[in-house]
Amino acid sequence: MSEPKENPLEKIASLCKRRGFIFQSSEIYGGINGFWDYGPLGAELKRNVKELWWQTMVLQRDDVAGLEATIIMHPGIWRASGHVDTFADAMIDCKTCKGRFRADQISEIPCPQKPSKKVSECAGEKTAPRAFNLMFKTCVGPVESEENVAYLRPETAQAIFAQFKNVLETSRQKVPFGIAQIGKAFRNEITPRNYTFRSREFEQMELEFFIRPDEVVEAVSGSVAAPVSKGHPGRPGADWGWQLWHQYWVEERIRFYGNIGLPRATLEEYWQSDQELAHYARATVDLLFKFPFGTQELEGIAARSDFDLSQHQRFSGKTMGVFDDELKAAWEKLPKERQDALWRRYYEHRKKYLARMGVAEEQAARTATDDANGLARGQYIPHVIEPSAGVDRLILALICHAYSEDQAPDEKGKLETRTVLRFHPRVAPIKAAVFPLLKNKPELVARALAVRDLLRPHMNVFYDEAGAIGRRYRRQDEIGTPFCLTIDFETLGEKGEALKDTVTLRDRDTMSQERIKIPELLSFLLSKIH
Ligand code: GAP
Repeated sequence: MSEPKENPLEKIASLCKRRGFIFQSSEIYGGINGFWDYGPLGAELKRNVKELWWQTMVLQRDDVAGLEATIIMHPGIWRASGHVDTFADAMIDCKTCKGRFRADQISEIPCPQKPSKKVSECAGEKTAPRAFNLMFKTCVGPVESEENVAYLRPETAQAIFAQFKNVLETSRQKVPFGIAQIGKAFRNEITPRNYTFRSREFEQMELEFFIRPDEVVEAVSGSVAAPVSKGHPGRPGADWGWQLWHQYWVEERIRFYGNIGLPRATLEEYWQSDQELAHYARATVDLLFKFPFGTQELEGIAARSDFDLSQHQRFSGKTMGVFDDELKAAWEKLPKERQDALWRRYYEHRKKYLARMGVAEEQAARTATDDANGLARGQYIPHVIEPSAGVDRLILALICHAYSEDQAPDEKGKLETRTVLRFHPRVAPIKAAVFPLLKNKPELVARALAVRDLLRPHMNVFYDEAGAIGRRYRRQDEIGTPFCLTIDFETLGEKGEALKDTVTLRDRDTMSQERIKIPELLSFLLSKIH
């Protein structure tokens, strides 16, 4: 694949606008910073990506259930999650240009008044960094008052924790199991930039996968299996602790990206250092993609301990623990010294968490004792592994990776630059384009429409009869349609019986053409897009 030479992101954005993938939101009013709309092809691409995620993460598994929660929720959720107090970026104001910038990006941002200079170099006096909460606020009901304040969710994850017990009780799942959700999230980012990469309204695809704490695994299985040194750890086992589950989900997610056209070589695994980890996280792996503006996060896979459910238990007063009959049965059979050792470890973990949350020492010790006593009754709060992906970032990564330019002959055989989006057929917005060779031959048009109608119930197909065939191919190359089907005089049997009822199948990437029998078309195309 040849690399586009200059300003690759500008070329991509221009193609996306010209062909109806991505438009600036509210463009006729001058746009609104950090908001983007998806045009007809972008909407299809997004639907395909979300559908493939849902298929992979929910429908093809026995141990994951889906959820679709509201965007506005009780504000208590965001107090419990820590978003009200800590979901903030440090920002700096420039007193001259009145711009507001993220403190950690100030050396990279052009000054709005003197774009040749970076904000950090421009002469304007700056304020000291101040915390700026990223949640969008609104009011529920007709009265605008502090009591009625609510937030647009900054992540889909918290609804999953808040509905954990309802899903557990209605889905016939038991730990380990996951709850998945796709939906909008909103963050009032200080400096939205890099096209759709950092937006203020975006979509997430999140899985919260609940697992037994390691003490419970040990009580039930005798020991916790050791993590693998590299690669996929294989089929989950009852003796898996959080480290193996975490490795498993990192590998499952890399596999998912491979299946939609982003092979492992296009991704980088970044293991956050202890200093970078959120206080509740035991490990976080970011999957990075090489965007034209730099290598940046596509998805984070975090081992979040039992922090989230514990917080909701404390703030809501409702128990978030589960009853595990296998634990109860196993505990009774454990020798006293094993019970004591596991009890102590669980107690220490719970006490540490409570102390970190500001609970007074005595109270923390009492609560942790109650929690650890629960083990003997088969009770505990599950831990969680969270693969959290952004739909819009993935769309941008797919487009950037697919974008390529090569040389192809035009109608007269002269080489010209061809723009191609080499999407994997699974995500391509249009799977096949159907062309009659000539639009003024009713028999060709009728056969082409019949082929379109044959395929249409199974996939997104596009019928086009306008212009020379070579131009029609180019139009499809540019939007990433993997296959073009041309109905010609051979199809009608006018050039002998051998090629009757066949069409020309033209491959986007190799530009090679072959004849394929119409009755074989559907199964051929389905094999490529599933
Ligand atoms: N529940 C965990 C969570 O929300 P995050 O790293 O803040 O973690 C997860 O977000 C993913 O959501 C990111 O990896 C990214 O793909 C996407 N995302 C986050 N902020 C975004 C933004 N402003 N614009 C577009 N996508 C964003």
